[in-house]
Amino acid sequence: MAAHQTILSSPMHVGSAPAAMAATLNFDANSTLRNAGLRSPVPHSESKQLPAMFIEADKNQRSSEDSWEASEHAELEVPVLDLEVLNSGPDKLGQRQELVKAMAKACQKWGFFQVLNHGVDQALIDRCEVEAHRMFALPLEVKERVHRPPGTSFGYGANTWVNQKVLHWAESFHMQLHPTSNIHEMAAKLFAEGDPNQFSSAVEAYMTAVEGLARRLLELLTEGLGLEPRHFSQYLEKERMISMRFNFYPPCPEPSLAIGLRAHTDPHLLTILHQDSVAGLQVQIHDKWVTVKPRPDCFVVNIGDLFQVLSNTMYKSVLHRAFVNSSSQRLSLACFLNPPLNATVATPPELITPEWPQIYRPFTWLEYLKNAYLYHPITGADRHERFFLSANSCANS
Ligand code: OGA
Ligand code: NI
Repeated sequence: MAAHQTILSSPMHVGSAPAAMAATLNFDANSTLRNAGLRSPVPHSESKQLPAMFIEADKNQRSSEDSWEASEHAELEVPVLDLEVLNSGPDKLGQRQELVKAMAKACQKWGFFQVLNHGVDQALIDRCEVEAHRMFALPLEVKERVHRPPGTSFGYGANTWVNQKVLHWAESFHMQLHPTSNIHEMAAKLFAEGDPNQFSSAVEAYMTAVEGLARRLLELLTEGLGLEPRHFSQYLEKERMISMRFNFYPPCPEPSLAIGLRAHTDPHLLTILHQDSVAGLQVQIHDKWVTVKPRPDCFVVNIGDLFQVLSNTMYKSVLHRAFVNSSSQRLSLACFLNPPLNATVATPPELITPEWPQIYRPFTWLEYLKNAYLYHPITGADRHERFFLSANSCANS
């Protein structure tokens, strides 16, 4: 079998990446929150009725706390893994190996786990959350200064997929730190009357710290696949794409009819999410929706589509969603670790065996975004199957 370069092979020429992104990524074409009637931080309307554009007609897509059963089944709980052992001396080597195994097992079964003693300063997390709340609390017309225009992926908006008719009961703000930060620029518009630096310095410091954690986790997860820890991470040293989305879910008048964030898989390599103390995130396992217990002292880590491909599906990129409630607002900070847009993503030959034959053809991250990320997946496989080895001929359809 031909040896494929794993990730970040010599850059293919894909044209100007941002221009290509702008031309092809159209996440947010026709939904402004103004039209939707959603005002920050809660709808101004006194009405106890959910506006029609938020009513999810498909009952299977609706989510509520009732649909989870985790509390009765300990085995249905996303594992919490303690990273403390990484800080200890050589005597803890055995425990480190146990941690690597537990992490790999969690990714095989759940595609999700939480990490405790992660090394990111709690004060920094709090600071970033304060800034996120400050941002969402701005008047809508101020937030719209950084409105995510059709055809782009960064800025403030409703975070909808092109084929999505029902709006999420949420506001979102998506920023990029690498390869070039757009955070200062957006902060200058949002906080023109105040101190933009207070926002951008907190957000950048937070993202930098979380990126460090993401790389450590990437290396442990790579080791869990039986590869050299730096097999993938070495390629991200020079170039990488780091972005973060703030997700803000205001209290919802009729939560059982709405959805905070529809079931989806993350297209990225790795997602590191911090949720506040309000429950909302659910993960699908064995056709059940399980709530990820809010642990503000933890980060939620999940495998994205790219890591599923790199691991030849040993690690799973799993469907997840967010539900909303009527009494409490909820904030999550989702950081995404990615290769640069022109990197080639291909399963390393070491992970291709007769028992685990190669499933995906090599592709670039940009190609994946263009083909897979525009549209909401109906099932987890909908995105992936366009990139199956046997689907070469229709890959661009
Ligand atoms: C995401 C996501 C879940 C949440 O931003 O991709 O899955 O709890 N967020 O906000
Ligand atoms: Ni997600």
